[in-house]
Amino acid sequence: MHVLVTGGSGFLGSHLSKRLVEDTHDVICLDNFYTGDRKNVEHLLSFPNFESVRHDVTFPYYVEVDRIYNLACPASPVHYQANPVQTTKTSVHGAINMLGLAKRTGARILQASTSEVYGDPEVHPQTEDYWGRVNPIGIRACYDEGKRCAETLFFDYHRQNNVEIRVARIFNTYGPKMQPNDGRVVSNFIVQALKGQDITIYGDGNQTRSFCFVDDLIDGLIGFMELEENFPGPINLGNPTEFTILELAETVIRLTKSKSKVVFKVLPQDDPMQRKPNIELAQRKLGWEPKIQLEQGLIKTIKYFSKLDRLSG
Ligand SMILES: NC(=O)c1ccc[n+]([C@@H]2O[C@H](COP(=O)([O-])OP(=O)(O)OC[C@H]3O[C@@H](n4cnc5c(N)ncnc54)[C@H](O)[C@@H]3O)[C@@H](O)[C@H]2O)c1
Repeated sequence: MHVLVTGGSGFLGSHLSKRLVEDTHDVICLDNFYTGDRKNVEHLLSFPNFESVRHDVTFPYYVEVDRIYNLACPASPVHYQANPVQTTKTSVHGAINMLGLAKRTGARILQASTSEVYGDPEVHPQTEDYWGRVNPIGIRACYDEGKRCAETLFFDYHRQNNVEIRVARIFNTYGPKMQPNDGRVVSNFIVQALKGQDITIYGDGNQTRSFCFVDDLIDGLIGFMELEENFPGPINLGNPTEFTILELAETVIRLTKSKSKVVFKVLPQDDPMQRKPNIELAQRKLGWEPKIQLEQGLIKTIKYFSKLDRLSG
């Protein structure tokens, strides 16, 4: 199959592209390199079935493909808040452009949506039928509302134009190739622990998160895309095992044998207190559930960051 991966040089996109290339699909990896890095896909450039294209999804792009994975969008608060207007544009104009392409080519299209569409939820764990609690004018809204609007566009193209869609709501995912400086909690803690710096916790550390290892997530995305039943979703993909942020910090310190201390800082605006997917729908429809436990995944991620650390001297 001919597959387009937008945001293909980012953290998730590069893992997905690698898997698709290994599965012998022809992969076009489209990225404007805003938060993505060429190095993430460097090892794929020698494959004849892989192509890297610099392009911004807020502008139309035409190519004949069978599948589109729409992942383009900065995912960490540091990056999506740096240029919030561009973030909303990427989600909304990007969705319109990619859905237009899917409509024209008849391609099936998957949207990398997010647990952020649930905002700061009153329902725990979050099920797909929960509509969420998002502050539409807060500093996270460019991302949350952009992704919500993208979901609306996906479902309207589906209803209005019969576009075959798949909407995946991705929960916190981590692993090798995350950027060391993008402020996401797992990479932050690992980098701080490896450097022996204080580990910064925002709030009292009792807020909970659930962390999915990237390999599990990619299995879920591909399984959903290739599901024979024409099921648009939305579907939650994430690891339902819940940890407090303090537990995560302590585990990272133990696994890195670091001497770092934990310090507490003020919680940023609209930071959700808890986030945990209900994945019964994914289990039922896709026969999918995460296999890699937090410690196992952290060990692989720490290995990746230690190598980076050594490389940067
Ligand atoms: N990693 C997670 O935990 C997580 C959770 C929920 C949702 N998601 C979603 O999955 C997708 C990938 O996330 P990630 O963690 O790999 O983030 P990332 O920042 O590493 O990757 C995003 C990629 O999109 C590219 N990009 C950004 N704006 C673009 C534009 N206008 N045109 C073309 N390319 C553009 C970036 O350069 C980058 O390569 C995002 O859409 C994100 O919202 C990720």
